[in-house]
Amino acid sequence: MNLSDNSTVLEVEDLRTYIYTRTSIVKAVDGISFNLKKGETLGIVGESGCGKTMTALSLLRLVPRPAGKIVTGEIRLNGSDLVQKTEEEMRAVRGRQISMILQDPQTSLNPVFNIGNQLGESLSIARKDDRKGLASRAVDALRKVNVAAPDRRLEDFPHQMSGGMKQRVVGAIAMSCEPSVIIADEPTTALDVTIQLQYLRLLKDIQAETGLSIIFITHDFGVVARMCDRVAVMYAGRIVEEGSVRDIFNNPSHPYTEALIQSVPKLEEKVERLYSIEGQPPLLSNLPNGCRFADRCPHAKEICTADYPDSFNISEGHTADCWRLDSSW
Ligand SMILES: Nc1ncnc2c1ncn2[C@@H]1O[C@H](COP(=O)(O)OP(=O)(O)OP(=O)(O)O)[C@@H](O)[C@H]1O
Ligand code: SF4
Ligand SMILES: [Mg+2]
Repeated sequence: MNLSDNSTVLEVEDLRTYIYTRTSIVKAVDGISFNLKKGETLGIVGESGCGKTMTALSLLRLVPRPAGKIVTGEIRLNGSDLVQKTEEEMRAVRGRQISMILQDPQTSLNPVFNIGNQLGESLSIARKDDRKGLASRAVDALRKVNVAAPDRRLEDFPHQMSGGMKQRVVGAIAMSCEPSVIIADEPTTALDVTIQLQYLRLLKDIQAETGLSIIFITHDFGVVARMCDRVAVMYAGRIVEEGSVRDIFNNPSHPYTEALIQSVPKLEEKVERLYSIEGQPPLLSNLPNGCRFADRCPHAKEICTADYPDSFNISEGHTADCWRLDSSW
């Protein structure tokens, strides 16, 4: 691995993913663009329902069919556009070049198969091998994610392992085909804080070992500060601000980002409500023409409700969609 190699692994350009219901079109992802470099962690943050998971499913081409559809855009992974690939071609990409890891290991491991079988199955997708070869690669994979005494763990069933250990196994499975991008989608329900910290540490360990790029989806700005290099703030299907973690925390430039940061919940605290921003985001099936945050924004002016704001450059790599940044404001 060459850590000085900061080549771009993933380029997303004007991606739009809509869900066609009987009565409306839900614009779950509505024109987002971002890049991801080798070894980089990009955080995607935003309130519930803003399109984070639908973005992740789009990248994997797993948008629920037939209602959901990528209507336009490009997703270039290692130079080739995933949007143009057939389903069969995508099967060769999923898991091998881009894969998803769930924070809650209960939902990823099958309770009726032992760890050796489950890990062996995904290792055999990467490369066919005999039983002995697979077992030895499974031991290596467990060792890489710091599972102690890995050779004795292969016969274990998930219920015989601790939560943190199960996460490590899920990490080993996700890494078995050495993907270049992993998407980690945090569940809405808060997990045990210890389990969450173990999970964050595991991802960082894997990244240090492999130079993997990570897209980290979360509600929690506290987690972003610990985990990410850059942040994309999503609101109602759009990325409204993007920049380095330092830029976003020191100089939040979109009023929505400001409000999110002001209501950062501490990782150690249990919170009933994540954000204390008044009001609700607009319905994705009935979006306004102007700024989507206008109804909740303390700075809104006439222009805000008339036109969707341009994207303004604040500094190198830091942009925000807000009319307040226009020189004529
Ligand atoms: N099958 C579906 N049919 C209709 N609308 C859907 C469907 N799946 C998702 N949506 C809508 O798409 C929008 C984006 O959903 P998405 O799951 O991406 O949100 P999210 O940002 O991941 O939220 P959370 O933080 O709660 O996980 C939501 O408004 C949701 O209601
Ligand atoms: S464009 Fe206007 S309404 Fe939207 S966030 Fe900026 S100031 Fe607020
Ligand atoms: Mg989600």
